[in-house]
Amino acid sequence: MRRLEGKVAVITGAASGMGRGTAIRFAGEGASIVIADLNQEGGESVVRECKENGGNAVFHKTDVASEESIKAAIDRAVNEFGRLDITFNNAGIGGALGPLEDITVADWDRTFAILLRSVFLGIKHSVPPMRKGGGGSIISTASVAGLRGGAGPLVYSVAKAGVVHLTKCAAIDYGRERIRVNAICPGGINTPLVSGLMPGGEAAAAQLMKNLQPIPRAGGPDDIAGMALYLASDDSEWVTGTTMVVDGGLMAGRHLFGGDQSAFDNKLEWSGPSFEFRKK
Ligand code: NAI
Repeated sequence: MRRLEGKVAVITGAASGMGRGTAIRFAGEGASIVIADLNQEGGESVVRECKENGGNAVFHKTDVASEESIKAAIDRAVNEFGRLDITFNNAGIGGALGPLEDITVADWDRTFAILLRSVFLGIKHSVPPMRKGGGGSIISTASVAGLRGGAGPLVYSVAKAGVVHLTKCAAIDYGRERIRVNAICPGGINTPLVSGLMPGGEAAAAQLMKNLQPIPRAGGPDDIAGMALYLASDDSEWVTGTTMVVDGGLMAGRHLFGGDQSAFDNKLEWSGPSFEFRKK
């Protein structure tokens, strides 16, 4: 039996990157999906990919900065497929850049509207149909930048920290109704959000991101899709209010001595009971 057979999902930001990868994965597990994104061409192409992968999907042009638009995407799921089981609040942008003193109130507000207010609204409008269906799973994309400083632009990082905390608070409120609320904190994932900023595109980004974390490769949309599938499926029935870090080990930290890489790479070894390093 496929893991999401008969389930209905809304995925924002599903025209590209992690949202796209997750939509195709969910489709392969039997879900019907509303592909909610500003990008119509990309979204319609993902609809085709979902169908080719054995699921059903429709595109719904959505701007997550607008409450009306988010509600309409959720209503579309209910009208088109009869219910709502899963919402993946995933759309995002890099947002306001630059030093704090140069950030305008308008740019702060716009970044927060797309990255954090959208998650509040996605939860708010998912609850009524999920309640009606006897429960559901709400997943939001935060970031390792929401867990520590210096892993992303300032406003972005603060908004993502808000997603982490909103997840906990909403999980407490809706646990009794079997509506689960969780977040995923991706590390460096090679998607157009990142590679689009680099002159060498995807290949250059892969090279740059390779050594940011203990597992020596950039993350990909499938790494996130795997976690989203777990959180969407009944396998995670007792998991709520949590933040799943999917980062190749980035948040584990790094060696404080022995250079950028591990002691092994620097040809150091333990010398035995003295607990000292010595050169190999
Ligand atoms: P992406 O750029 O490939 O996909 C983002 C999608 O969101 C695009 O299809 C875009 O059209 C859509 N979108 C942007 N603004 C929108 C709006 N106002 N309304 C509706 N759709 C909108 O980027 P990626 O990397 O797949 O990003 C997905 C999420 O992951 C974002 O929330 C991002 O902040 C987060 N993230 C990304 C990381 C990375 O390394 N790529 C790391 C940690 C978190």
